[in-house]
Amino acid sequence: MRIGVLTSGGDAPGMNACIRAVVRAALASGDQVFGIYDGYRGLVEGKLVEFTRKDVSEILNYGGTILGTARLPEFQYEAVRKLAVDQLKKYDIDALVCIGGDGTYTGALRLHEMGIKTIGVPGTIDNDIASSDYTIGFSTALNTACEAIDKLRDTSSSHQRCSIIEVMGRHCGDLALYSGICCGAEYIITNETGLDKEKLLKSLKENRLNGRRHAIVVISENITDVYQLAKEVESYSGYECRATILGYIQRGGNPTPEDRLLAARLGKYAVDLLHEGTSGVAVGVVDNKLKATPIEEALTMVSEPNVELNKLVQKIS
Ligand code: F6P
Repeated sequence: MRIGVLTSGGDAPGMNACIRAVVRAALASGDQVFGIYDGYRGLVEGKLVEFTRKDVSEILNYGGTILGTARLPEFQYEAVRKLAVDQLKKYDIDALVCIGGDGTYTGALRLHEMGIKTIGVPGTIDNDIASSDYTIGFSTALNTACEAIDKLRDTSSSHQRCSIIEVMGRHCGDLALYSGICCGAEYIITNETGLDKEKLLKSLKENRLNGRRHAIVVISENITDVYQLAKEVESYSGYECRATILGYIQRGGNPTPEDRLLAARLGKYAVDLLHEGTSGVAVGVVDNKLKATPIEEALTMVSEPNVELNKLVQKIS
């Protein structure tokens, strides 16, 4: 086969490990592989280069993506996608492995509908692709968030402050929930829990009156203005309060072993599926087993709210 591989959407640590797995697995089976630079935008513009084993040497342990990435909202238009299909025909490419999040999956689905064989691989720090228990990049972002929250705890405790820490996740609360548990946050606020401001302020005030030196609040992005919330906490609770937005630091760094392993497994699995003639599916790991789900279904699946973890938080925070 002649297989193309691209990364699209927000970059995620482990994308390189996945590119490497796709390229090496395909070459080992006698395929030709083409790296497509800058996501669907690069595909439309014809930024394709044939890869050898060596082109993916020394990348496994690095964050980011050697292919570059982009968001291309215009890919929703058939005329734009037609340009992509023309490029694939020009290079005689049979199939595409598309590594990214839900926007990437939508693009892969549309190309599948236009007769191109596509496989979606979940690469995003958000862990918001319900067809896989974990997405490539989540473990590393979680590590980064935990390291930062631990550091903020040191200074919060020294100054007897409340720290509000906003983590990424777009509309998914997993980064907040997991990092909050791992760092012993007093409060974890996500889309699932919602923000009950009155309850939070009252509870912080009680904590302060009970002599607790500091408080850590971990909150998902896109919920509220955390700087404004910090002002309200400060004026009501008795704690001095500081807000920190962790931001893009969560997207970088060397992937954890968990992300490298997941990337290797899913990259090789994507190639195996293409060899079987499969198309239009998203690969994932469910209960530690490889699983392929039609992309259409993957895009509409809703993640089970983290019932057990949310109960755990209520008991131990
Ligand atoms: O999807 C990954 C992510 O980092 C989200 O957590 C965040 O909301 C978004 O990307 C930021 O996107 P951009 O890089 O376009 O600012």
